[in-house]
Amino acid sequence: MTTVYFNSRYLSKDEVRLSPDDRGFVLGDGVYEVIRTYDGRLFALEAHLARLRRGLRELAIEGVDIDGLGEVCRELLRRNDLGAGNALLYLQVTRGVAPRTHFFPDPPVPATVFMQASRFAPRADPAKGVQAITVPDIRWARCDIKTVQLVANCLANQRARSAGAQEALFVRDSAVLEGSYNSLFFVLEGEVRTAPKTNYILPSITRDIVLELCRTSGIAAREFPVFTHELPRATEAFLTGTTMEIMPIVGVDGLAVGGGKPGPVTRRIQELFRSRTAGTGA
Ligand code: PDD
Repeated sequence: MTTVYFNSRYLSKDEVRLSPDDRGFVLGDGVYEVIRTYDGRLFALEAHLARLRRGLRELAIEGVDIDGLGEVCRELLRRNDLGAGNALLYLQVTRGVAPRTHFFPDPPVPATVFMQASRFAPRADPAKGVQAITVPDIRWARCDIKTVQLVANCLANQRARSAGAQEALFVRDSAVLEGSYNSLFFVLEGEVRTAPKTNYILPSITRDIVLELCRTSGIAAREFPVFTHELPRATEAFLTGTTMEIMPIVGVDGLAVGGGKPGPVTRRIQELFRSRTAGTGA
């Protein structure tokens, strides 16, 4: 039996009664977070809660006890026997339940808060890497808010899947910005490059950690996008994210990157990241 958290209560998953008037369901009016544990330890929890706080502020969703959510994570892990090993927590907050209107409920209604935990299962092999395709970025102009409106991301990812690839890379004004659920890095002329934090990408927590690891390990890195015309010159590429961790991209649009194998800079960053998740510093 899976125990989940729903509006201040711990319930069996099949006891959750989500209203069809929930604004998350009807309007995509909400935000979410995906958080990892490594060997039972929550990873980067404070950063996830800080991003959630910012997202809720941007959407003017109030009254959520964000500080209390860390304890909810721990309790869910305990109740689902996930206190050891690797797990994934999914947390979603919506504006709540109200008759469908485009304006916010007035007076405001309590936010809906849902969280569930599951065993983490990697989607790809970090020693082998994945194939990616480029797709036009048809998302809205506030990709910096982690909203549950992910249909453009789903369309892109499905397009990758149908093409035999694992991730789609969003291209806006010829800048190759990020994946459908991952941040994106390239290595060009020995320098690591990733798009800067703007309204067009998610302020990813793994991305921040990778940039910090580069800084502290003397790996040259710059927050500047790679443009489509530069792709043939990229010697390495990799995705970063809570679920993909550091995943080499070994081909883009059917063309091999770095001879079709994970490159040395990516492997070094994988190592550094691994020590970080193991809590041994780096
Ligand atoms: N996705 N970019 C996008 C568009 C994302 O959706 C995500 C995360 C990332 C990586 O962010 P972080 O390092 O904070 O996980 C970048 C989550 C994992 C998801 O939707 O499942």
